[in-house]
Amino acid sequence: MSAPLIDPFARAITYLRVSVTDRCDFRCVYCMSENMTFLPKKELLTLEELDRMCSTFIRLGVEKLRITGGEPLVRRDIMTFFRAMTRHLDSGALKELTLTTNGSQLERFAQDLFDAGVRRVNISLDTLDEDKFAAVTRWGRLPQVLRGIDAAQKAGLRVKINAVALKGFNEEELPRITEWCAERDMDLTWIEVMPMGDIGNEDRLDQYWSLDNVRARYGEHYTVTDLAERTGGPARYVRLEETGQKIGFITPLSHNFCESCNRVRLTCTGELYMCLGQEDMADLRAPLRDHPDSEAPLEQAIRAAISHKPKGHDFDYSRQRADGQMSRHMSHTGG
Ligand code: GTP
Ligand code: 5AD
Ligand code: SF4
Repeated sequence: MSAPLIDPFARAITYLRVSVTDRCDFRCVYCMSENMTFLPKKELLTLEELDRMCSTFIRLGVEKLRITGGEPLVRRDIMTFFRAMTRHLDSGALKELTLTTNGSQLERFAQDLFDAGVRRVNISLDTLDEDKFAAVTRWGRLPQVLRGIDAAQKAGLRVKINAVALKGFNEEELPRITEWCAERDMDLTWIEVMPMGDIGNEDRLDQYWSLDNVRARYGEHYTVTDLAERTGGPARYVRLEETGQKIGFITPLSHNFCESCNRVRLTCTGELYMCLGQEDMADLRAPLRDHPDSEAPLEQAIRAAISHKPKGHDFDYSRQRADGQMSRHMSHTGG
């Protein structure tokens, strides 16, 4: 392996999130606008280019690869890419190949994902109420996602549910969602809503429900023990003694976790974003396409980009407005 990727704050970059498409079959209100314009296909990295890109990052010390979107499973032939990554699991260079999905296509792909070496999936689900689900995803249908979750578990994939905490939307559902996950032996992670995308008339601040309040809500219903373990992602975990279940909290707003950041994000057009909450990015498509026979220019571009990784994001709700608001949609960088 070449020298590892270390940023200016001595953080080793071992986690690459790869958005393989900007498209999605849902239009979640906090992620996309209703009328999205998607990229023309020729702008996208081909599956072969994605392979070269990821393989270079793995050679530079990336151990965890999370495939995101948009919705990664709507990209045509995406299983070819997953299967190509299996070789890095087999060699031991890659420790984890995983994805974050809305679950809509899992009924079709769960077994293939398991066969390619995926062992864990994170599935976004903010509510168990069919009407509310249709409202928050705009285009989603809950029963389809529930069938996808069943298929994932049947295939042997460990499932973690991601729920964005939304004030006045899923507050009252916390015990129901928690117990539903416990019955199915699934972990659950709550996420603070981040001020991204064109907000229009909506204000993320109105939707913002601090996870300090969510944790306090758990304290009212359960005995809560803090856990020291991490999964290489940003979540901190507690255990509920009554159910034995692990609950995660991703708190970019209330408790900044940038100090231990280990990740960068590649978009489907080959832009490398050094931080979810910053506009800083580097074009990796040009060094990749211009040099089909050598990875040296790509490696150089990656190292140069990492040497500019910022200390952290600028999201801030503390001044009663969404400071650090980003016009970029969450679907662009895959969360
Ligand atoms: P695990 O491997 O299960 O720990 O996954 P993960 O939390 O790394 O990935 P997932 O795709 O499930 O991300 C959950 C949420 O965390 C998404 O909403 C992401 O936007 C958010 N998130 C992940 N990394 C960062 C980060 O570096 N900064 C911020 N602000 N949010 C992040
Ligand atoms: N704030 C917080 N989480 C978000 N996600 C999408 N948009 C936002 C946002 N504005 C979540 C999705 C998915 C994950 C990848 O990112 O629900 O679980
Ligand atoms: Fe699609 Fe996920 Fe964005 Fe929802 S949050 S629109 S499921 S990419």
